[in-house]
Amino acid sequence: MALAFINSHRLAKLIAMGTDVEQNAPSRVLPQEDDLKNLEDAYAQLQDQAQNLINERSQMETDIRNLKKRAQRLDDEVRLLRAPPLIIGHLQDVLDDRTAIVRSSNGTVFQVSLNQRLEPKTLKPGTRVALNQDTLAVIEVLHDAWDPMVSGAEMVTKPDISYDAVAGLDEQVETVREAIELPLTSPELFRKVGITPPKGILLVGPPGCGKTLLAKAVANQTDATFIRMVGSELAQKYIGEGGRMVRELFSLAKDKSPAIIFLDEIDAIGAKRLDGSTSGDREVQRTLMQLLAELDGFDALEDVKIIAATNRPDILDDALLRPGRFDRIITIPLPDEKARKAILALHISNMSTKRVKLQKIVEKTEGYSGAELKATCVEAGMIAIRDKRSSVTNDDLMLAVARLNEKKSTAGNTSTPDRLYS
Ligand SMILES: Nc1ncnc2c1ncn2[C@@H]1O[C@H](COP(=O)(O)OP(=O)(O)O)[C@@H](O)[C@H]1O
Ligand SMILES: [Mg+2]
Repeated sequence: MALAFINSHRLAKLIAMGTDVEQNAPSRVLPQEDDLKNLEDAYAQLQDQAQNLINERSQMETDIRNLKKRAQRLDDEVRLLRAPPLIIGHLQDVLDDRTAIVRSSNGTVFQVSLNQRLEPKTLKPGTRVALNQDTLAVIEVLHDAWDPMVSGAEMVTKPDISYDAVAGLDEQVETVREAIELPLTSPELFRKVGITPPKGILLVGPPGCGKTLLAKAVANQTDATFIRMVGSELAQKYIGEGGRMVRELFSLAKDKSPAIIFLDEIDAIGAKRLDGSTSGDREVQRTLMQLLAELDGFDALEDVKIIAATNRPDILDDALLRPGRFDRIITIPLPDEKARKAILALHISNMSTKRVKLQKIVEKTEGYSGAELKATCVEAGMIAIRDKRSSVTNDDLMLAVARLNEKKSTAGNTSTPDRLYS
């Protein structure tokens, strides 16, 4: 009886705790042993379930917190994308820790306030900064990234041309090596004699005579960084752009020294400065002035050498040609008889030929440039291919010379419009 009482008492308690024991359970007078056990099992199970649910809830709460964070991040991102653009400018001077003078991209100078969260020691004159569009306040300091045009000018893979591929220019090759390679490899020689080695050389001569070829050979042979830029790439549209590129070109070279800068077709920026020119011309002149300043450079350009090439030395500004800038002017002339023989022999050596009398061709090609001599060889090869032969004969070469002569005589005479359409 007592046992029954206790059992029913426990049962009531269980019901009071909210477990879903059958409602009619307390009406049983004498619960069986089994029932009790069953109820205890159910209780334990329910307790487990409750624990699981609590775990699940806390898991979901964490999920919610994470999702909220993510939403916040995405919100921020959207806000960032919607933000007005920042203007890029250059810092000129820092007045105090709140104000600075900046030059915006169009050249106007402003006094503006500084973002207080910027590290003061990063604020050096000349650094690139991002400015607020309205107030021009300095928002951020930008890394001094190289202009992609400038950094792309560094030749990473060396051209596949050695000095052997330059025929008939032995003397010029020698001079170039003396002026460019020697100061880089053994500067002590110059120190002993007490002279400063030449900063740069200028290759001049008619088109197609091997100026670019010679520079490529230098690039192939040297261990120095080789940076190649064509003059026209430096001729820019906006004020200060060309000058900045020249400055970056030289600071890239100094960074990666020993280095050789090759400025091909320098006449694009090095032409004589004339009065009454257009604004585009004036920008090109500013670029030239920057180049002159870099050549003079306050910092010794010991480990940086410059090779420039042009086929219009007559239009170059005198300032470029004065000693101390391009000290050595190396003329690459039209090949003479001996040089023509060497060039022809070089190009023919790669072809399969039959009974070619080189001397005859050499005599016939008076006034040909290296490129034209190469074209002659290619033309002769084409004639042989059209005839379904696998080797080039002397006649093919003679015919090629005749064809090139014809082309040469018409090419120089395009001033008459008829020729343009014939
Ligand atoms: N001295 C030379 N020896 C061998 N090939 C030459 C020589 N000069 C010119 N060539 C041929 O003519 C091509 C054009 O020459 P290049 O150096 O580009 O002329 P440029 O003097 O106008 O820069 C070369 O790729 C090369 O095949
Ligand atoms: Mg060239």
